[in-house]
Amino acid sequence: MTTDKNRVLIFDTTLRDGEQSPGATMTHAEKLEIAGLLDDMGVDIIEAGFPIASEGDFQAVSEIARQSKNATICGLARAQLPDIDRCWEAVKHAKSPRIHTFIGTSPLHRAIPNLTQDEMAERIEQTVTHARNLCDNVQWSPMDATRTEWDYLKRVCEIAIKSGATTINIPDTVGYTAPRESAELIRRLIDEVEGGHDVIWATHCHNDLGMATANSLAAVEAGARQIECTINGLGERAGNTALEEVVMALKVRNDIMPFHTQIDTKKIMHISRRVSTVSGFPVQFNKAIVGKNAFAHESGIHQDGMLKNAETFEIMRPEDVGLAGTSLPLGKHSGRAALRAKLNDLGFEMGDNQLKDVFVRFKELADRKKEVFDDDLIALMRDAAASE
Ligand code: KIV
Ligand code: ZN
Repeated sequence: MTTDKNRVLIFDTTLRDGEQSPGATMTHAEKLEIAGLLDDMGVDIIEAGFPIASEGDFQAVSEIARQSKNATICGLARAQLPDIDRCWEAVKHAKSPRIHTFIGTSPLHRAIPNLTQDEMAERIEQTVTHARNLCDNVQWSPMDATRTEWDYLKRVCEIAIKSGATTINIPDTVGYTAPRESAELIRRLIDEVEGGHDVIWATHCHNDLGMATANSLAAVEAGARQIECTINGLGERAGNTALEEVVMALKVRNDIMPFHTQIDTKKIMHISRRVSTVSGFPVQFNKAIVGKNAFAHESGIHQDGMLKNAETFEIMRPEDVGLAGTSLPLGKHSGRAALRAKLNDLGFEMGDNQLKDVFVRFKELADRKKEVFDDDLIALMRDAAASE
């Protein structure tokens, strides 16, 4: 796909793993809209759904495949031939289609279909070979890889590579790993698996312990070149790695993580809001990058610093993620400098004495209200003028 060794592919699974969050179901039209936005923002691979799961999923994946302009369109399939055929039927319309097939390889997951290690190995060989006969671009995932015995994980990755997989994805399905372990596992797989240097290694992390972003970045530092993620970190349980977090971390800390993506970061905020609206999942106020407060400063010291030099309290520019600018919400912690700046914006000019008086009134109001809005300030200025 790319020969640039520091280029990290972004694989977005908002429409598949993200939509698996209880209650996050999206309509057909909403899925097409989100896929279009992902394609426009430069996502490399869009996992558009699980075609065998329902007729609706099949239709959505087929139409997304037909409308895609640049992104590779991927569908998910269990390690079963009818799943893989159905997946291919849906993605084959894309300019660049991919089949993603998976099976749970840890002892707990092997027990569910009741397969021995050898039986599962045979199934992997048969299904990956079948997928590769249909499509040149095949991704294979050993689900629950981070809880799979090393020897068995190595063995099944080798089988998948020999059978034609072009990307091997290492899922931390239950968000169990930690950054050092995530890095060690990827490094060892690349070095010790036969054929490990001939495929792309992907990292797919869940956020059960709040470490999905750290684990994904550690995997990249160890050699993974595809990050699987979702907008706003939507996904099963505590969610998946958040696209906006890994992309901005690689951009802002490029000095210590010299990797890059092709995401147009200015499109992040718009897609975050659309995904929140269509999934019905609000974004927490203090969510990194896309939360309402991510670029807001209320305390007097911070607001004063921000008015003098934005770098005092911001490590990235709000414009870089598609916001109009920093916000300095006024509340009881705000100081005079921010109040004056806001009143000037609203068209009120005043001398120091008048500001002193208005500031006392403002603090009284702020003690009663969580946030003081423009209309509150206009009313406050009107009252101040009337009592002069
Ligand atoms: O978390 C997981 O293991 C998955 C696989 C289907 C890749 O989502
Ligand atoms: Zn997952």
